[in-house]
Amino acid sequence: MDRLAIEGGVPLRGEARVSGAKNAALPLMCAALLAREPLTLGNVPHLRDVTTMVRLLAQMGVAATLDEGGALTLDAAGLANPVAPYELVRTMRASILVLGPLVARAGEARVSLPGGCAIGLRPVDQHLKGLAAMGAEIAVEHGYIHARAHRLAGARIFMDLVTVTGTENLMMAATLAEGTTVLENAAREPEVVDLANCLVAMGARITGAGTDVITIEGVARLHGATHRIMPDRIETGTFLVAAAATGGEVRLTGTDGAYLEAVLEKLREAGAEVREEPGAISLAMRRRPRAVSLRTAPYPAFPTDMQAQFMALDAIAAGTGVITETIFENRFMHAIELARLGADIETSGNTAIVKGVASLDGATVMATDLRASASLVVAGLVARGETVVDRIYHLDRGYEAIEEKLSALGARIRRVR
Ligand code: UD1
Repeated sequence: MDRLAIEGGVPLRGEARVSGAKNAALPLMCAALLAREPLTLGNVPHLRDVTTMVRLLAQMGVAATLDEGGALTLDAAGLANPVAPYELVRTMRASILVLGPLVARAGEARVSLPGGCAIGLRPVDQHLKGLAAMGAEIAVEHGYIHARAHRLAGARIFMDLVTVTGTENLMMAATLAEGTTVLENAAREPEVVDLANCLVAMGARITGAGTDVITIEGVARLHGATHRIMPDRIETGTFLVAAAATGGEVRLTGTDGAYLEAVLEKLREAGAEVREEPGAISLAMRRRPRAVSLRTAPYPAFPTDMQAQFMALDAIAAGTGVITETIFENRFMHAIELARLGADIETSGNTAIVKGVASLDGATVMATDLRASASLVVAGLVARGETVVDRIYHLDRGYEAIEEKLSALGARIRRVR
């Protein structure tokens, strides 16, 4: 199993390019299932989750080709086997995103239940409730969701809580339904908007994406399209936090501050100078960071996917930060690993109290999930001596060439096989 070895204490300096967003790429790839013509996606990140999604789609009969420029074309003309097997869903929860498109286009889907996940229970009841409201017959048997519908019918769906992939699944399904669907209490995440833009380019009729009410007027069929995937706001935020924590100065290109205002605000509060330009963000930290308190919530509030990285920043900041996690019930597993590096963190329920210490000391730590791994890398970049981050397959799911990008910014980091 691969590990990352980091020699801490070097301020990050220089320029790095942000990749396309994982959380936009995965639903966009599933959107290809909705049409008989090819969908071409640009700015596709090279990630393990993207590879997993290609495999998942391929075993359903979707042809995938990658051109020299890195664009991925998915052709679902030969869609044959509307099944998402346990072996693939187990490694990537976002596999649930095939459910809506498959029922809408093929009239049937069998998708393994995602099951438990390290960061919490993460049920899919809202996805199922919405599809049922659109007239799908749904049965859960032998660990699989089996959904069927001759043709889905538009419906007014009120979601009990804000769910990102739930909104995306139902929005995709509704594009081919008979009549109009209204999704109330929809997720407002930029990735939902990116997906809606692509669906509209494919011929869908969608209004309201980016607000909490999305209206979809069903059409008989969608056609092919070309779409460029939005920048990864979480990768952007992670690199900015790493630069801030190390007292560095970086410029990130291929990204946009508009997608992460809540995060930039917290970085400014921590004492960073943040400058936004069209298509780029610069950050300089010329002092010891100040501790910041934050509370995760659905977009446009502070993202849960940045919580762990800010805990690492607070760990070495001046003062005490209070971090409240409201999205996932078990997302503080990095706290105990950060403590191994000398951080002073007390957790109780969904709150963590982080008392900043003057410095961290390198040690071997274990990555438990994707963003927890990122927080350990940030901490390792700051810590004195060597930090070894074990089980980095989590990191490879969501960060493209992280050690290469960090090395280019001056970090002493290497992959150990
Ligand atoms: C997506 C992101 C993930 C991010 C999360 C929250 C992708 C591929 N993943 O995950 O990186 O951390 O949004 O911003 O985009 N819930 C239910 N019932 C449901 C669905 C969700 O109770 O049917 C709960 C979940 O358990 C969780 C909360 O709703 O507590 C939010 O989850 P959700 O927004 O669905 O997360 P994902 O879409 O899985």
